[in-house]
Amino acid sequence: MSSITILAIESSCDETSAAICRDGRILSNITASQSVHEKYGGVVPELASRAHMQHIVPVVDQALQAAGVQRSGLNAVAFTQAPGLIGSLLVGAQFAKSMSLALDIPLISVHHMQAHVLANLIEEPRPSFPFLCLTVSGGHTQIVLCESPMSMKIIGETMDDAAGEAFDKSAKLLGLPYPGGPLIDKYAKQGDPERFKFPEPQIPGLDFSFSGLKTAILYFLQEHTNNNPRFIEENLADICASVQHRIITILMNKLKKAAIQTRIRDICIAGGVSANSGLRAALETMGRSFHWNTYIPAFQYCTDNAGMIAITGYYKYLAGDFAPLTVSPSARAEW
Ligand code: KG4
Ligand code: ZN
Repeated sequence: MSSITILAIESSCDETSAAICRDGRILSNITASQSVHEKYGGVVPELASRAHMQHIVPVVDQALQAAGVQRSGLNAVAFTQAPGLIGSLLVGAQFAKSMSLALDIPLISVHHMQAHVLANLIEEPRPSFPFLCLTVSGGHTQIVLCESPMSMKIIGETMDDAAGEAFDKSAKLLGLPYPGGPLIDKYAKQGDPERFKFPEPQIPGLDFSFSGLKTAILYFLQEHTNNNPRFIEENLADICASVQHRIITILMNKLKKAAIQTRIRDICIAGGVSANSGLRAALETMGRSFHWNTYIPAFQYCTDNAGMIAITGYYKYLAGDFAPLTVSPSARAEW
């Protein structure tokens, strides 16, 4: 079979990303982040759509150039169809459809959360099937049982906030700018994770809950800053370390339970929060004690990126799973 070259586009939230993949190998992965949201404490959908409009052509051109690929050399175009901010998704979808039409090549629609899982297949070492993936991002927290690139099911998920939201909302309460997750990670490195005890919710099965933690942190900060207005600045590292520690134990305890229940020992993490150094270390430590084979995508494939859309698009191409030009994006999506 001759080689298959795919252009992939990701625009579900606030990153405009384009990647080129040839025969399952990522040749380029270019991402433009949007700093415009920082001062608002969260992503402003209207501003995100406008920024995607500005970034998409240069980002795609850069991805083609970095890969040394001409538009005429593309065999298919893949894009994130769901879930995400509808205005953001529409920009990527419309662009991908136009490319598909203009170049007369197939269109492939990709589910963003499935792509986060398959980011683990981009580089060596790759997990063997079936594997479990803890997908932790700003919008989702899921434990996914992946039987093949085209067959996966959610066996546990959050009932309220996502893990990334728990990081970002805690950071906001501490007066840190958006997105606060990476900053909590940074300050936590100098702090004592056992100094402050935050509650672990008792949720049955493999599901998660993070909303109680956010409320507990709010009351904790109110109480302490009433007594000492400088409490946060004086204890920032210990608060960050303690918050991060609790989020990680909530995640890891459920992942351990899932591994025991399914008897699966190939365990991956994915999504923006998998960039967290504490979570990465916790996975390795637990992996050693339970004899798991553990996998974490390279940093550029953890947060939102088109490389993961490209690899998913490649497997869909092999399966002949193409989308009609009438396909439209969706903010929410069932699997
Ligand atoms: O997967 P992602 O890039 O976008 C979504 O699909 O949501 O994840 C973004 C989330 C944000 O909540 C961000 O704060 C969090 O990932 N994040 C982190 C770290 N890096 C990104 N959270 C904790 N520690 C990090 N190092
Ligand atoms: Zn994501």
